[in-house]
Amino acid sequence: MQSILNIPFEHRLRFVTGVFEPGCGALREFLSESRDESPARAILFFDDGLIGANPHLPQSARRYFDLLDRDVELVDTALVAGGERCKNDPAVLRDILQRIHDAGIDRKSYVIAAGGGAVLDAVGYAAAIAHRGVRLIRLPSTTLAQDDSGVGVKNGVNAFGKKNFLGAFAVPWAVINDLHLLRTLSDRDWVSGFSEAVKVALIRDATFFSRLCRDAPAIRRREERVAFDAIQRSAELHYRHIVHGGDPFETDQARPLDFGHWAAHKLESLSDYRLCHGEAVAIGVAIDTVYAQLVDMVDADLCRAVLDCLSVLGFELSHPLLDEAVTLMEGLEEFREHLGGQLTITLPRGVGRSVDVHRIDDALMRQAIGYVGQVEMSGRGVPEDGVIGKG
Ligand SMILES: NC(=O)c1ccc[n+]([C@@H]2O[C@H](COP(=O)([O-])OP(=O)(O)OC[C@H]3O[C@@H](n4cnc5c(N)ncnc54)[C@H](O)[C@@H]3O)[C@@H](O)[C@H]2O)c1
Ligand SMILES: [Zn+2]
Repeated sequence: MQSILNIPFEHRLRFVTGVFEPGCGALREFLSESRDESPARAILFFDDGLIGANPHLPQSARRYFDLLDRDVELVDTALVAGGERCKNDPAVLRDILQRIHDAGIDRKSYVIAAGGGAVLDAVGYAAAIAHRGVRLIRLPSTTLAQDDSGVGVKNGVNAFGKKNFLGAFAVPWAVINDLHLLRTLSDRDWVSGFSEAVKVALIRDATFFSRLCRDAPAIRRREERVAFDAIQRSAELHYRHIVHGGDPFETDQARPLDFGHWAAHKLESLSDYRLCHGEAVAIGVAIDTVYAQLVDMVDADLCRAVLDCLSVLGFELSHPLLDEAVTLMEGLEEFREHLGGQLTITLPRGVGRSVDVHRIDDALMRQAIGYVGQVEMSGRGVPEDGVIGKG
């Protein structure tokens, strides 16, 4: 016997400001969907970095639940160590599972995770394996988690020295991007997520790319209206790819939204994770864009605009690790191994479009890495009108 299993998932994404304000309906809307005779239960995990900067949040959350006209009980709130620590330490995963167990979370209950990509990954993995999967509501609290990772359907923790070795594909019950949560990010974590916006704009949306080039200085200055627009558009493009791209669980060889990521993953590990994901992605996008120029897929103006945009956003593109091009290029083989099958790398073709290639010219890639390693930004930023690709 052989059949196709067609299992529909609903993927819900909202943008709000002040998720625990009594007037904010998003959380209430998603919690209400499980209503039956017995009250639903919920447990809320917070990133400890988020709470360090916003100590009032657990109290606001409890008040929100107290005022709910829904049969949902907030049984427990807990802190999870923010950043990669929570994905590296198996004891953290165990503690999260223990709290889920002790709170009596069943398959009609909710695990809510508020935090950066790392905490969402760790709590998300626990939610995916407890009872073989309970409802997970994500409240991403970093730019990267809001404009990319939190919208996705993956989770994971690190094991046996390998990043995300344990993990699952699991569609979250809902994702609520509360833009106000981003206000307390460090400058470094603020900037970090915008490389994913540049990445997706360059291969999917020419207008958005031009807007990012124009708005890069304002985003760096943390002008909220401009930055929130960029985060929202990036999240929408990632969401659209997952929902309509035809391959949410990544069974195909092609992984377009991993443009720039073969080098990024390698740079993260070579730097012992001193480079964070968004910073490494900025360098990876720069390298693959320069390579795309060398193989005539993008013109010099567009290539310059990408590098300028990343640099104006606040990313450092040259890095000592780029002096070791041969070591870095081992990342290509590791990327292929991770996907299985033949190497498939997505490159930009002009602006707003991409192409998958299966062969990389070693000499040209070394040249691209060398170029980014020595790149001296013009300092002039991007053209006034933000128009790229002319000439
Ligand atoms: N699942 C996926 O599809 C996917 C995709 C990309 C990246 N990731 C993972 O995401 C992680 C990186 O996520 P990240 O860039 O969000 O960083 P992060 O989760 O490491 O958080 C960065 C720091 O910010 C703190 N923080 C979080 N929110 C805050 C706030 N609002 N105010 C103040 N501090 C706050 C955290 O405590 C942490 O110290 C990596 O583990 C990466 O592997 C997952
Ligand atoms: Zn990424």
